[in-house]
Amino acid sequence: MPRYEMLSRREIPGMRASCQLAAQTLQMIAEHIRPGITTNEIDRLVDTFIRDHGAYPSPLNYRGFPKSVCTSINEVVCHGIPEDRALLDGDIINVDVTCTLPSEHGYFGDTSATFYVGEPDPMAIHVTEVARQALEIGIAQVQPGNTVGDIGFAIQQFVESKGCSVVRDFTGHGIGRTFHTEPSIPHFGRPGHGPRLKRGMIFTIEPMVNLGAWQCDVLDDDWTAVTRDRSLSAQFEHTMMVTRSGVDVLTRRDALLPHSEDLPFAKLGPLSVPAAFATPEA
Ligand code: MF3
Ligand code: CO
Ligand code: CO
Repeated sequence: MPRYEMLSRREIPGMRASCQLAAQTLQMIAEHIRPGITTNEIDRLVDTFIRDHGAYPSPLNYRGFPKSVCTSINEVVCHGIPEDRALLDGDIINVDVTCTLPSEHGYFGDTSATFYVGEPDPMAIHVTEVARQALEIGIAQVQPGNTVGDIGFAIQQFVESKGCSVVRDFTGHGIGRTFHTEPSIPHFGRPGHGPRLKRGMIFTIEPMVNLGAWQCDVLDDDWTAVTRDRSLSAQFEHTMMVTRSGVDVLTRRDALLPHSEDLPFAKLGPLSVPAAFATPEA
């Protein structure tokens, strides 16, 4: 008996289509990131784009979540709820897109990125670029025979070597016909520990990196997770599949993300960014 939800070979194209729509949604919203836009406006743009493509914005009504996308600003770690707050120059914001294609009973694609609003300060650049590289380093561990602990260990080692911390309260997750399923993919761990990666497994890696300590609090809305010390937090996420020889990043984009990957200080790696922009030495 397979321990994890596995998609059959003929289901992979549907899963890939959903992941690519999530990736395109992120690409679409990137163009709109600027001081003055509200997170509710981001929510409407994402909701409309996803529905116009025959899909459903998975966060909406998921366990009571009230909006169609998560928008997490500055000290918000994840699950920020769109509101009428306008983005300010110097903010960082993670936009986390999940869609279900076909609508309602289809496959889930899940991807997120952190964007710079206007002119970033050095601390915002540091935490965001460490998170970007943490995802890349995690993906590099994905191949048959490695373990879930190898992914978390590589991420944790890197993040802590840069003076930042890795959130423990939220993890990557198996995904497919279900939004969140086994295996759980912690962004910390020990080499060789945890489930062994097998061809066909599909999951997300989505490290949340804090500038200060790793502890989080959840606000009274029961969703918004913030850093306990209110330090900045950044996150990037891809959905991927283990292949015979390595990894297939299903939410990979085909262009650089404006206000994030296109900036001169962005630290791009070969696995997490569009193939055409991958630099071998990164
Ligand atoms: N997209 C998030 C993840 O990466 C989950 C959001 S659940 C929601 O797993 F309800 F907040 F939308
Ligand atoms: Co996810
Ligand atoms: Co997500």
